[in-house]
Amino acid sequence: MTLTDPQTLKRQVAQAALAFVEPGQVLGVGTGSTVDCFIDALAASGLDVAACVSSSERSTQRLRAAGLRVVEAGEVERLAVYIDGADEIDPRGHMIKGGGAALTREKIVADLAERFVCIADASKCVPVLGRFPLPVEVIPMAVPQLQRRFARLGAEARLREGCRTDNGQLILDVHGLSISDPLALEVELNQWPGVVCVGIFARHRAALALIAGAQGVQRFDY
Ligand code: A5P
Repeated sequence: MTLTDPQTLKRQVAQAALAFVEPGQVLGVGTGSTVDCFIDALAASGLDVAACVSSSERSTQRLRAAGLRVVEAGEVERLAVYIDGADEIDPRGHMIKGGGAALTREKIVADLAERFVCIADASKCVPVLGRFPLPVEVIPMAVPQLQRRFARLGAEARLREGCRTDNGQLILDVHGLSISDPLALEVELNQWPGVVCVGIFARHRAALALIAGAQGVQRFDY
């Protein structure tokens, strides 16, 4: 194992994110392999958080298994911090998320939070979003119609095989986009009938990112 081994980087950035957790607070918790490391670090830290609002069944199970209390999003009015990973992050803190199919609940929990703290390894940093296929959660009956719409944008929307979200919906992974204006595209796609949630996090971009790489963990404020 090297210092830049992906799992080592995830553990490093997860550990660094503990600096944003305060005892007694209710914490927003994202989804993914980096967040799994964060949940493990949080449990091992002994930091006494009041509870967590989780963005997926996967994270809920891991939080509970670690002995952490989970409350529903509807039980809180605001969160100081939401900690989550990303599939891509650009130099302004805009992200693509949803590789783990949890984008809708992630956006709901992020919306409750004053600060989105993104935790990722340096491979997720890109100049322009879109190399990672954009996940879009959709209502099943709209799939062919939405695929045609994306084709008209010059992109290919592929149905994610064998995937049902925690909300019982489907995921289209959209290939071939170069997202130079993430906010405009997020707003546009949100208008398309049948779209539940778009994996562009522009309106809910990161307030800051902790990025683990060969130089250690670096902080970027947006
Ligand atoms: C889950 O739906 C995603 O938004 C994740 O946050 C994202 O895919 C990052 O996951 P990893 O930490 O596993 O790379």
